Amino acid sequence: MKYDSDPKRTKSAIVTGTSAGVGEAVARQLLERGWSVIGIARRPAPFAHDRYRHVAYDLAGVVDDPAALESQLTLPDVQTLRRIGLVNNAAVPQGLMPVARLDPRELARIYAVNLIAPVWLMGYALRAAPTDTPVRIVNVSSGAGTTGFAGLAAYGSGKAALRLAGMSLAREWDTPSSTAAPRENAAILSYEPGVVDTEMQRYARSRPADEFPWAQMFHDFAARGVAVPPERPAREIVEFLESDGQPPFAEHRLRMS
Ligand SMILES: NC(=O)c1ccc[n+]([C@@H]2O[C@H](COP(=O)([O-])OP(=O)(O)OC[C@H]3O[C@@H](n4cnc5c(N)ncnc54)[C@H](OP(=O)(O)O)[C@@H]3O)[C@@H](O)[C@H]2O)c1
Repeated sequence: MKYDSDPKRTKSAIVTGTSAGVGEAVARQLLERGWSVIGIARRPAPFAHDRYRHVAYDLAGVVDDPAALESQLTLPDVQTLRRIGLVNNAAVPQGLMPVARLDPRELARIYAVNLIAPVWLMGYALRAAPTDTPVRIVNVSSGAGTTGFAGLAAYGSGKAALRLAGMSLAREWDTPSSTAAPRENAAILSYEPGVVDTEMQRYARSRPADEFPWAQMFHDFAARGVAVPPERPAREIVEFLESDGQPPFAEHRLRMS
């Protein structure tokens, strides 16, 4: 808590997937609220700001060469940071198909982006953050991470594993050990944004019926107009990053009010 009362000290966040959708909205809102942001995506971010630094990077690459990403992430003047945030938002919806058709190489790539890179980034953030600096991590999840949906085995199982990885990490903080430093002001949120009007929904609707015969659910979302704009979940993610008094691990879905 030691830096929280000093408004001059910087709040710094790493946000993945800032080129579009929810990640773009999170980055924009954090910048509006005075944060410094390091964004990661393959495409550029569609905005510029003097407190924003973009890392053009394919998160699948973490599996082969994590040092290449780490060298680009350096948080500014880490000892003076008032708060560190990480939003594991980037994900790919690929692999929407029956399990019997999943190619193991494609599956490995999906898990690399949706699971391995986010878990590695949680570890990176904690290694980088002094033990008394508040740390807030949001792992963007999905209803498919807690409920089985036909055709979503690859996507949903990655989200389920990320949720569990966050739960396990939070237990490290209250289970003393000689190698994992205790954290008194760190918190992880596994967050389900609901149905959001982004490229990901459009991708799911565009799948051919012979590859993904269960696309109707996504067409129904569109027909019923239930999708929310990305700014809605982004607001709740930013709220969490700025909040105090959170338990080490929590989860919730987009509030519909
Ligand atoms: N949309 C929904 O209805 C919905 C529902 C439940 C959960 N979610 C979750 O919400 C989060 C955001 O989804 P969204 O709807 O905003 O998706 P989106 O519009 O498709 O945006 C995905 C973002 O992730 C980045 N990304 C994808 N693959 C990447 C890679 N290999 N390396 C680096 N960045 C990569 C993309 O950037 P580049 O393409 O430029 O790399 C893009 O910025 C995801 O975790 C998703 O699973 C979404």
